[in-house]
Amino acid sequence: MDRRSFAQFLTLGAGSLGLGQASAQSVEDNNSTAPDQKLNQKQSRPDPVNVADIQAMAKAKLPRATFDYITTGSADQITLRENVAAYQRLRVYPPLMRGVSDADLSTTVLGQKLKLPVMLAPVAAQRMYHTQGGLAAARAAATAGTVYGVSSSVGHSVEEIASSSSGPKWFQLYVPKDRKVARTLVQRVERAGYGAIIVTVDLGEWKDADRRNRFTLPKQMLVKHLRDVGFSQITDKMSYDDIIKFNSEAWDLSLSWQFFDWLRSVTKLPLLIKGVLRPEDARKAVSIGLDGIIVSNHGGRRLDGMPATIDVLPNVIQAVNGGAEVFVDGGIRRGTDVLKALALGAKAVLIGRPYAWALAADGETGVAKVLELFREELLNAMVATGCAKVSDIERSLIA
Ligand SMILES: Cc1cc2nc3c(=O)[nH]c(=O)nc-3n(C[C@H](O)[C@H](O)[C@H](O)COP(=O)(O)O)c2cc1C
Repeated sequence: MDRRSFAQFLTLGAGSLGLGQASAQSVEDNNSTAPDQKLNQKQSRPDPVNVADIQAMAKAKLPRATFDYITTGSADQITLRENVAAYQRLRVYPPLMRGVSDADLSTTVLGQKLKLPVMLAPVAAQRMYHTQGGLAAARAAATAGTVYGVSSSVGHSVEEIASSSSGPKWFQLYVPKDRKVARTLVQRVERAGYGAIIVTVDLGEWKDADRRNRFTLPKQMLVKHLRDVGFSQITDKMSYDDIIKFNSEAWDLSLSWQFFDWLRSVTKLPLLIKGVLRPEDARKAVSIGLDGIIVSNHGGRRLDGMPATIDVLPNVIQAVNGGAEVFVDGGIRRGTDVLKALALGAKAVLIGRPYAWALAADGETGVAKVLELFREELLNAMVATGCAKVSDIERSLIA
């Protein structure tokens, strides 16, 4: 971590916005230190100590509409709040005296060895958060030894992301209506060495903040995005309105389960479905041979009122009955949240906003920092619960 650049954002964030931990720290400083010491402390503020600190840095750094795009959820944000609150309701019961003082955080997902069970969820528009965008996120994930979930809408081509790092990558597919474009895209993903394809199927996005802020992708970014996917007819000579119209009609939002038959016919890559909440959908996914299920409500960004993902995870695990690997995302902000998700049966978790904020705060260094925080916090939680390895994290830890 580059201490100075993070410190700079903290100064901006805490001083002017009075947010979270950072502001609490500054009140403490003012009360207890001599004036010249105060000055020194201001110049070398500490690294962020948690995800909330990183969120505050992103808020200080980004234009309001971009920060809101990342941070807010749909409608009344019931699901967004529930995702976080549900983890906070769960209690951990640590068994004592297990003789554990260190832990091995490594695990295996879809045959891929990871150094920690925390992956980066697909997140759109990353070039709006940092000039290096997804290239920086890919590098940080590779260094941390985890999977980078690459959004169809990340803002770079699949090849650009692939050449930025050799770490494990899964491609998240939004499906072009034009199946020739979809097929070519899938073939490019395979050729570029991605390890799996995630198909995101949840719907119902209704974000008040984005409508109020009139949040849009700048024209150049939208052109690049559509061309990267393979819509070669798009040029920057077209009017912005025409491009927006094209974009709103280009994607298949009426998918049914038969889509996976088509996808299986064009790729041998492992397939995951993202957006599962109901046990019968999980059973269906297993019955058609999908390799992975991501229990997700899109981080509260789709239909508001959906339940917290951690609350539905146990029923999904039961329905799947070992027939596929099950992952979960939404509301994971602490290493203890990761422990809780693993205890309730997830193979690994994915984080979205924590690394989007980190990317905005400090690019690759920021994403590396947030992954390091999750690693340290999970290690602490595992040692405290006597778990020497990930497979020791059992259901009985949670009441
Ligand atoms: C800014 C932003 C953009 C997102 N874009 C996508 C996307 O393009 N595709 C997708 O499948 N999920 C997308 N998601 C959802 C994430 O993959 C993930 O499900 C969610 O962020 C998890 O919740 P969390 O943010 O509380 O960690 C996005 C999330 C955010 C915050």
